[in-house]
Amino acid sequence: LRKIWLTRHGESEYNRMALLGGDSNITDSGRAYAAVLPDIVIDRVPLTSEGATMPVSVWTSTLKRTIQTAEHLPFPKLRWKALDEIHAGIFDGMSYEQIEEQQPEEFRARKSDKLRYRYPSGESYMDVIQRLEPVVIEIERERECVCVVAHQAILRAIYGYFTKTPLKDIPRLEIPLHTLIELVPKPDGRMAEERIPFD
Ligand code: F6P
Repeated sequence: LRKIWLTRHGESEYNRMALLGGDSNITDSGRAYAAVLPDIVIDRVPLTSEGATMPVSVWTSTLKRTIQTAEHLPFPKLRWKALDEIHAGIFDGMSYEQIEEQQPEEFRARKSDKLRYRYPSGESYMDVIQRLEPVVIEIERERECVCVVAHQAILRAIYGYFTKTPLKDIPRLEIPLHTLIELVPKPDGRMAEERIPFD
């Protein structure tokens, strides 16, 4: 059975400062995750019926933090613009605290309808779910294993799709840093799931 792996990028400079968006580098702690990721994945590559290891392809976004995290994975790589993190529009580079302080109405609006709230000049979760449709179709069509190295909102959408999570719950799914999520499609259409944390 083929596998689908999902992981956020290793901790970024912006994660450390609790800022939204941007295109920052990963930190030392993020690099430590990038360094162990190949061991974690290689260990879990399934065998084909002939006993060979199944091919794997690695998909990242076009942002530095995912490319750096995938750097040591010894598999072919593909960059998807559609895997870039949710665009926070005018709030890109700000913290939640700054938004709450400077634009309390926007902050409250997002809190009350996180699925449909669209950042000014940016995106909503609904927008993200829609732009990920081609990616999800490709993952389903793919016969090899796919390792998706992406971002919090993006992985909520992809994980939510494969686990048939109701739309309204997608924006609050737990997708922690430095954790590999392994999904194995079952014959009944459901997914077996395992989470492998690295600390
Ligand atoms: O904080 C990291 C991050 O990837 C931000 O770039 C992004 O805006 C945010 O997570 C998405 O999570 P939420 O929708 O919960 O704000």
